[in-house]
Amino acid sequence: MDDTGLYQSLFEDSFEPTIVVGDDDRIVVMNRAARDFPGVDLAALLEEPATDTFLEGLRSELKARGRATVEVQRTDAHGRVRYVELKGRRAIQGFVVVARDVTERRQLEDELSQLQRGELLGYQAASVAHDLNNLLSVIVCSSAALAHEVGDRAHLLDLVHEIQAATNRGAKMLRQLLSPLRRKATIRQPVNLNDAIAGMQPLLERIVGPEVELSLALGADVGEATIDRDALEHALLNLAANARDAMPRGGRLTIGTRDVSLGEEEMAGLGGQYAAIAVSDTGLGMTREVRERMFDRFFTTKGATQGTGLGLSMVRRFITESGGCVSVHSDPGQGTTLSLYLPRTRGRERASKRPRLALCPCA
Ligand SMILES: Nc1ncnc2c1ncn2[C@@H]1O[C@H](COP(=O)(O)OP(=O)(O)OP(=O)(O)O)[C@@H](O)[C@H]1O
Ligand SMILES: [Mg+2]
Repeated sequence: MDDTGLYQSLFEDSFEPTIVVGDDDRIVVMNRAARDFPGVDLAALLEEPATDTFLEGLRSELKARGRATVEVQRTDAHGRVRYVELKGRRAIQGFVVVARDVTERRQLEDELSQLQRGELLGYQAASVAHDLNNLLSVIVCSSAALAHEVGDRAHLLDLVHEIQAATNRGAKMLRQLLSPLRRKATIRQPVNLNDAIAGMQPLLERIVGPEVELSLALGADVGEATIDRDALEHALLNLAANARDAMPRGGRLTIGTRDVSLGEEEMAGLGGQYAAIAVSDTGLGMTREVRERMFDRFFTTKGATQGTGLGLSMVRRFITESGGCVSVHSDPGQGTTLSLYLPRTRGRERASKRPRLALCPCA
């Protein structure tokens, strides 16, 4: 086979759906993976008239800068929404576009964000209910005093009793309203961190996407921690999503575990045996200002439509409720490492000493 034949078959058989588009926005050639792309007709998509602002953005970016990435949303023949990432690069004539189906990753992100928005709704409802409850207490106390003042004037006393009955009914309704919002009881049990993390590997890979290389550095015989496994998984998903956002051009996410023994002094009285999970990325890192506020509820640098700013506040709550702590190392351009220290199951008596702050002074 000559060189041309070899390159043609490499192109045709590549697993990457690849399309060559001419300067006139017409498709020159597409390989088999692109023709067989699931659910979306890539040829029709790329040759669409310039009514789609994303596609138009891709075309003008490619012409201006030589490379561009956009994500477009389409509905397949079964009515299911598909998300397609299109990554283009200028070629000698026209440009080359590689397509990727990112539907699963988008859905996972949406689920995570819906969970967080649900949590936010819960916070808001709980705080309104709290204020309303205070108002009801004022009515209860005042009506009791009023009943005393009214003495034996029966018709007035009837009115006061009506106020009291209505207030009690209101308080009961408030409790009913809030019962579904109460957080489910946390189930803490000894969890083998290595098993839990290894079991999450496929999910974590999907959340970070193919641009980010995930590596696990699980220490040998790392002890168990007595924690809520669901909350651990949720925390790791949040950390992975943050790492991915910090590496828009790709990079490496490393999740490592090890046993650590921390002294009383460095742990502000919380010394003991910990199982530590370190989540490191090679991303943009954080300035001191961001580092200081990163755990604040609703703090986000991603804009209101992109982030709720609840991810890390939930991670902090998980750590605090587990009797552990978290340390952060991050500088602009230097990546970020978050280390979660969870009390090892054998040293459970330590867990009862709850830290007031989740940020620990340990390095
Ligand atoms: N790995 C990281 N690298 C760089 N910055 C980070 C990293 N993790 C968190 N941050 C910063 O901390 C902020 C708060 O993070 P948090 O997870 O609480 O909210 P968010 O990611 O902005 O929103 P959400 O979690 O709802 O998507 C982020 O907006 C970002 O500025
Ligand atoms: Mg986040």
